[in-house]
Amino acid sequence: MRIILIGPPGAGKGTQAESIKAKHPIAHISTGDMLRENVRSGTELGRKARVFMDAGQLVPDDLIIDMMRSRLRADDARSGFLLDGFPRTTSQAEALDRLLGEIGTDLDAVILLEVSDDTVVKRLTSRRVCSSCGAIYNLTVRPPKIDGVCDFCSSKVIQRDDDKESVIRNRLAVYHERTAPLVAYYEARGLLHRVDATSAKDSVLTYLETLRAKG
Ligand code: AP5
Repeated sequence: MRIILIGPPGAGKGTQAESIKAKHPIAHISTGDMLRENVRSGTELGRKARVFMDAGQLVPDDLIIDMMRSRLRADDARSGFLLDGFPRTTSQAEALDRLLGEIGTDLDAVILLEVSDDTVVKRLTSRRVCSSCGAIYNLTVRPPKIDGVCDFCSSKVIQRDDDKESVIRNRLAVYHERTAPLVAYYEARGLLHRVDATSAKDSVLTYLETLRAKG
């Protein structure tokens, strides 16, 4: 499987990726997670990216494309990958095409997670994440068993810095302006599949298994 998950912030890309990974071992490549790791460890990339992330803006294309150039060549991505949060602009999509051409591979599908802006705001203001393993929670629909403590690794569960309502609204505006055009880009190539992101948290896994069964 060489798949892109695309959709607005809070559509459930990370959540759907968790359920796919639990059933099919696959490299889950999340540019958001990679950037947050760089911020945490204080790398030069992390320092540059943080300013944009905190404001809900996109990190410049050249930084993202450089980061992905080496990530897509890593051993674990050879047999397939699930891209979450990349590409996010037409330039990134074109760069991805070039990178895949260099590696000698292609995409199988682009899954668009469809959800309204109101749902996104509700979900993201109540999202919490594990500060260590990254497990995703929601105070309304999926709280940790013990308040503030990760079910999987017992680390602290926190709110992401960019999950404040004003920043969420910026991220949504940026999505509609810069990322939504990718829907037409991949639709024109016959790669786009639409999945309702308000249904089950494993709806993408179910959809992919149906696609596979059809051959
Ligand atoms: P990134 O981390 O990629 O954030 P995002 O795209 O805004 O997506 P999120 O992680 O917020 O949401 P998600 O869709 O994964 O939803 P989740 O599963 O957590 O990027 C962060 C920042 O990094 C960007 O703003 C940008 O600055 C920078 N960046 C990253 N990639 C970049 C790139 N390529 N180019 C430039 N800059 C880049 O779910 C959300 C909540 O909803 C959770 O609480 C969850 O429990 C709940 N939920 C999920 N599914 C369901 C469901 N089916 N029903 C009910 N609740 C659900």
